[in-house]
Amino acid sequence: MHAVLVSVYLLLVTPITLTWWAAGSQLVMDPRTICKKTKRLRGKMAEICSKQALVDQIRLGVELGQRECQYQFRFRRWNCTSSRKSIRKVLLRDTRETGFVNAVLAAGVTYQVTRACTTGELLGCSCDRKMKSKKNKKRLKMASMPEGDWEWEACGGENIDFGLKKSKDFLDTRYKKRSDMKTLVKLHNYVAGRMAIKNHMRTECKCHGLSGSCTLKTCWRKMPPFREVGNRLKERFDGAVKVIAGNDGQSFMPEDSSIKPPGKTGLVYSEESPHFCLPNNTLGSFGTQGRTCVETSPGEEGCSILCCGRGSRSHDETEEKNCKCKFLWCCEVKCEKCNETRTISTCL
Ligand SMILES: *[C@@H]1O[C@H](CO)[C@@H](O)[C@H](O)[C@H]1NC(C)=O
Ligand SMILES: *[C@@H]1O[C@H](CO)[C@@H](O)[C@H](O)[C@H]1NC(C)=O
Ligand SMILES: *[C@@H]1O[C@H](CO)[C@@H](O)[C@H](O)[C@H]1NC(C)=O
Repeated sequence: MHAVLVSVYLLLVTPITLTWWAAGSQLVMDPRTICKKTKRLRGKMAEICSKQALVDQIRLGVELGQRECQYQFRFRRWNCTSSRKSIRKVLLRDTRETGFVNAVLAAGVTYQVTRACTTGELLGCSCDRKMKSKKNKKRLKMASMPEGDWEWEACGGENIDFGLKKSKDFLDTRYKKRSDMKTLVKLHNYVAGRMAIKNHMRTECKCHGLSGSCTLKTCWRKMPPFREVGNRLKERFDGAVKVIAGNDGQSFMPEDSSIKPPGKTGLVYSEESPHFCLPNNTLGSFGTQGRTCVETSPGEEGCSILCCGRGSRSHDETEEKNCKCKFLWCCEVKCEKCNETRTISTCL
């Protein structure tokens, strides 16, 4: 937790760390510089640049994506470090890690911009008023509809369409004219990242009426918590499909022809990941020496995997904690201090 906080802090105080995030990163690092350049480019980017509030939210969305990446990869050999050099190296490739980072970034921007609409922090967008029309009930899967009689709130909920569009304008637009393998994979993973929110919108309702009687029920659409989005993308990462170029030069297909083509929501990649066991500048790898691991776990956090077979070392760490707390009438809590010892393993 501490390490995460520290890295978030570093992110906030050293904007330079933000350069790496994908190509759109420069905008993120210093919107003004990029937007000066973009004036000549016109188009979607110029449109984004003309709205400082939107630029700010996009930057926050990128940070949201990065924090989630660090959380989801906290036990992996490559832990989505905040080192910009490392991330840049990973983003230059086309591995599963690249795919995850791109997807979680697209999702982060979508999420942040949508949230900002809802809370009224962005001009030019607000809650989803279209929901009010009856037809729109059809837009939702029946399974996610509340039971009984109800109405949409005047503001039908979070305006995901606006967030999706801005994420796309910001990230995808510059690649639209390219169809090389890496670009196709990147665009696919951006879409998958956004789908992890769009396909999992939920409906929440509230009862109105005397003492909680439900004479009127109103409902609205809401995004899932971002942690859930991250968890879902991590599952997609674990099941990512390796692809090769299709014959038409405009598409890709699974390398293993017995695997069914990935749907829109799946992550894809075209290059095997390095093992990230040893430090290697070219790969953006710090190696795993000194990383904390879990002695008996068979998973990615287990010492056997994380330490790449080099073994681990254990030491005890003692921490003074509150314990044997008593509630004293009224109103005080008295605790004693106890020493709590934990065994920590780190990779050799
Ligand atoms: C990520 O890995 C690096 C290098 O291996 C390590 O220094 C850092 O503490 C790790 N970060 C987190 C959040 O675990
Ligand atoms: C780093 O990785 C590259 C690419 O896999 C490899 O060619 C190179 O030999 C590695 N360098 C070291 C010092 O291991
Ligand atoms: C906890 O350990 C420290 C250092 O060994 C010691 O100074 C302290 O008295 C211990 N506290 C308790 C409550 O045992």
